[in-house]
Amino acid sequence: MESADLQKRIDKLPRIKIAKLPTPLEEMPRLSKLLGGPKLWIKRDDLTGMAFGGNKERKTEFVMADAIQKGADVLITTGAVQSNHARVTAAAARKLGLNLVLVLRGKEPREYNGNLLLDSLLGADIRFVQMDAQQALPAMEKVAEELKNEGHKPYIVPGGASYPTGAVGYVNAMLELVSQAEEAKLNINYIVHASGSGGTQAGLVSANKALKTEIEVLGMFIKARANQLLTEKIVQIANGIARLLDLKENVNQKDVVLIGDYAGEGYGVLTSEAAEAIKLVAQTEGILLDPVYTGKAMAGLIDLIKQGHFKKDDNVVFVHTGGTPALFVYKNQLIT
Ligand SMILES: Cc1ncc(COP(=O)(O)O)c(C=O)c1O
Repeated sequence: MESADLQKRIDKLPRIKIAKLPTPLEEMPRLSKLLGGPKLWIKRDDLTGMAFGGNKERKTEFVMADAIQKGADVLITTGAVQSNHARVTAAAARKLGLNLVLVLRGKEPREYNGNLLLDSLLGADIRFVQMDAQQALPAMEKVAEELKNEGHKPYIVPGGASYPTGAVGYVNAMLELVSQAEEAKLNINYIVHASGSGGTQAGLVSANKALKTEIEVLGMFIKARANQLLTEKIVQIANGIARLLDLKENVNQKDVVLIGDYAGEGYGVLTSEAAEAIKLVAQTEGILLDPVYTGKAMAGLIDLIKQGHFKKDDNVVFVHTGGTPALFVYKNQLIT
């Protein structure tokens, strides 16, 4: 399929323009040189512009339009205490005059910092619950029932906005990247990014398949080494995207390259390699990564480079998916 055709299908979906797009595609010449190649590029999705930006802002454009079309006056979503998705959804809700309930998994910390501080400044109704991610949907449904009884029209945004409506934002991102690459006469060989709840990767892989590019998308799973469940979820989201956009070719598990080797001890646990990667990118390129997602994904990219995974003249695009407010929460582990 041609890019223009895919773009037309996306343009038919309800969307509210929130993110500042296109985000820049920048070269990282000093980092590439230091690591001895390949040619490294960075797609600055940390610069999407609203309330510290990040990948969720691309998803939010479609999520908010869907919520408003369905008559919602309050959004409900979930995430970890330092969820970037919660912060971006809170900001977008405010921008559009909606209320927001955040069902955050974890204990209320004594100090509000990073994303949680921002959620609070944005006036989100924050509810801390001790449960794992699988129990979040029933918890949100319970909140939705309460709100309905009070006469509200709630809309539940699944965790990470990783459902077809949100993930379409990353089909759009791939189109944007392909167009930037064409303009720069750049032949992209690989895209590397952090994968958490799967929507970003589902969008990128769906676009890749529809456009039949030769680009290999490498998702770095930042939660666990085992990744079969997320692989299945990515395929499921991609199939939902195919239905939304009326795409013929379905994504299957072979299209999903998900690497769990750099997750360390799990979600939100900083690895020493990620801390090193954050400092290296800051000190060679002046770009700040984050401790939960992009730091680990960059540590993975650096390790693959050291293992000789890429050719010297390959072009590798790292997607900076944001998350920088969490840097402040990890200050004691980052300054050693
Ligand atoms: C900064 C950052 N990077 C990457 C991701 C992963 O994106 P996804 O959940 O779509 O896999 C997230 C999601 O929480 C994030 O906040």
